[in-house]
Amino acid sequence: MADRVTVRTLKKIKDNGEKFSMLTAYDYSTSKYFDDAGIDVILIGDSLAMTALGYEDTYSVGVEEMTIFTKAVAKGAKRAMVVTDMPFMSYTIDIPSALTNIGNMVKNGANAVKLEGCNDYIEKLIECTINMGVPVMGHIGFTPQSQNVIGGHIIQGKTEDSAYELLKQAKKLEKAGVFSIVLEMVPENVAKNITENISVPTISCGAGRYCDGFVMVCDDLFGKFDAFTPKFARKYGDMKSLITDCAIKYIQDIKNKNYPNENEVY
Ligand code: KIV
Repeated sequence: MADRVTVRTLKKIKDNGEKFSMLTAYDYSTSKYFDDAGIDVILIGDSLAMTALGYEDTYSVGVEEMTIFTKAVAKGAKRAMVVTDMPFMSYTIDIPSALTNIGNMVKNGANAVKLEGCNDYIEKLIECTINMGVPVMGHIGFTPQSQNVIGGHIIQGKTEDSAYELLKQAKKLEKAGVFSIVLEMVPENVAKNITENISVPTISCGAGRYCDGFVMVCDDLFGKFDAFTPKFARKYGDMKSLITDCAIKYIQDIKNKNYPNENEVY
């Protein structure tokens, strides 16, 4: 069995000028296939609120649900680093409750957690989480758990001031001890500048080509989720058609008394 991808592996990849891959997964078999394929990081993203649970946004998903998905995904991943997204309100009330919720994800199989945003509280929490023994992935730029404050799905860092603010945030997260930082919906040149000016790996989520790692929501990769597809998502399959097609054929076989056949009975 290959060695588990760790914070050290990702750092080495950055230092060698190489790239790493990250995908979200929400169930055991997808996680296993990604792991077998050689993915470096698997994220139990709170995007599962929309893709797996049918919610409008990420606000509604809670710790209990994220725990169940973490458990399933972690069972499938033997080599990839498993990172759980801490859901809305699970880490922002106070440090003790945040650490309890974070610890719970690790007890259920996560190797690290992802926290959105950067402010004094988040920096303190990152330090406490690392002191507890859990690595933290940061997430700045467009942060879906603050989309009501931001005012929608809006590209971040477009002005000189906001680009500088993002660089400052990245440096603060680096100082607090994160092992990597997701940059979501950030202009390519801004993400490039951040990547070149911090020592921890950056991960592009719609932040262009020059980050150290790249992440996509698995349902976008599969062509499965059709409610909304961001510009940066590349569809590698057409799972929506595949699933619909299988269901139509199955229904037809039943109607036509073709299923089950004589080889499919006891
Ligand atoms: O929830 C999620 O899927 C994410 C990534 C796309 C970065 O946070």
